[in-house]
Amino acid sequence: MFSSNLLRHVTPEWVTLFSCIKCISRQCSQKQLKKVSVRDALSSKALGSNVRIQGWVRSVRSQKEHLFLHVNDGSSLQPLQIVASSDLQDRGLTFGSAIDVTGSLEKSPSKKQNVELHARHIEVTGACDPVDYPFKIKERHSMEYIRQFPHLRCRTNAFSALLRVRSEATSAIQSFFKDNGFVQIHTPVITSNDCEGAGDLFQVEPARRERKQEVADQEEKEEEGSPHFFSVPTYLTVSGQLHLEVMAGAFPAVYTFGPTFRAENSQSRRHLAEFYMVEAEIAFTRSLEDIIRVMENLFKASTEHVLTHCAEDVELFHKYVTPGHRGQVDLMLSRKFNVISYTEAIDILNRSSQTFTFPTEWGCDLQTEHEKYLVKHCGNVPVFVTDYPYDIKPFYARDNQDGPHHTAAAVDLLVPGVGELCGGSLREERLDLLRNRLTEMGLEDTYKWYLQLREFGSVPHGGFGMGFERYLQCILGVDNIKDVIPFARFSHSCLL
Ligand code: 4AD
Ligand code: MG
Repeated sequence: MFSSNLLRHVTPEWVTLFSCIKCISRQCSQKQLKKVSVRDALSSKALGSNVRIQGWVRSVRSQKEHLFLHVNDGSSLQPLQIVASSDLQDRGLTFGSAIDVTGSLEKSPSKKQNVELHARHIEVTGACDPVDYPFKIKERHSMEYIRQFPHLRCRTNAFSALLRVRSEATSAIQSFFKDNGFVQIHTPVITSNDCEGAGDLFQVEPARRERKQEVADQEEKEEEGSPHFFSVPTYLTVSGQLHLEVMAGAFPAVYTFGPTFRAENSQSRRHLAEFYMVEAEIAFTRSLEDIIRVMENLFKASTEHVLTHCAEDVELFHKYVTPGHRGQVDLMLSRKFNVISYTEAIDILNRSSQTFTFPTEWGCDLQTEHEKYLVKHCGNVPVFVTDYPYDIKPFYARDNQDGPHHTAAAVDLLVPGVGELCGGSLREERLDLLRNRLTEMGLEDTYKWYLQLREFGSVPHGGFGMGFERYLQCILGVDNIKDVIPFARFSHSCLL
């Protein structure tokens, strides 16, 4: 490359410069290598190809000449085995560290995987001290333990599996609605109404900052007449239903899927202060049966999708977190869901030999203990309970105008292990009945716009809401709702 004449003039400084250039160009070519995910690498047929993998070390094992690392990047439950020279042993390749590896994909002699990566170059992108790291190599930590580390638990097998299932279930639900002609509506997070009327609302106002006196005076002048930012009291939404009902006046079928908030002072295993709800509203229906069919089909189609597309992740839960739960899921998928009336449900509870903590007289709301009993009574197949007492349902529920018990056309879906998964109803579309009820409740002025929906081109309609976290609990068999949401918010806890 260089003439001998020129080489005579090469000084040690030149040699250093050349080797730096060589090194930089090697790094450049490594950086240019095709990046692949662990998932794609594991299923790759391109043996011998050079690739680049970035991820986190899940295990380290050293043998005489080789170092074996398992690396995961969140794309699959199964890690990729990296085979490196044992010279690299003391280079900070510890459990939990982030690494950037280049090398060639080769057939693995082990039965555990088809492919492994023979490393040519490994860079430790982020070191991790395994002594201080709260998760320990080869230990299976409980869901309760990892819950203490909301900023780190996504790095565990169980929680990363949960997050993949959650993501896939989200897509499955979206596909279900798209395939069935529903239009997605982004209902607001901030609202001026209390859809459920249960009063468990979080109020929304700007935070009060330290302000200079003249700015404060100016702001107060602007606020004159109303102490509220939006001029009316506003809240985080407890349900997008009323906004969906608006849209059901122009579209035959709509849905929304977003965060919902309830200031319930509950530490239970099935309540959160912030949870995701899937809600649907269907126009031109006079029958609860139509709503029931959509709920059952949504549950079954989404679950089939998740079982197919996240088989390994779901299996992890069914094998290690709730052994035997797969049988329960298969049972739910293979059987038609039961339908009983609230009055029948009360009869079943009153005939039971079990003693309940809460009353079971006609007119009482069903509690978790009642719901779980009813599901067991129905052979652990989900059950729809219909036609609840009129007086315990919100203002929008359609009056059945029946007797001797006065009921509303409302329905809850109860499922094994969880109890109530969905709540829905036909909505009162008759202007006079709705106006009378709102007047009795002193809400006629607040809901003028809602009454107007019944004045202009009103149609009979109904819908439901499904708690997304409860759905995940139900299909995975997870006991505590805090373990199926990335960042759990509940009374007295808002970590991160
Ligand atoms: O039964 P709910 O209160 O019904 C409604 O909000 C209706 N407006 C929905 C509609 O018809 N569009 O809530 C629906 C579901 C419940 O069945 C439950 O699964 C879930 O939302 N849910 C909760 N999930 C977690 N934490 C909480 N605090 C929840 N409250 C309700
Ligand atoms: Mg409910």
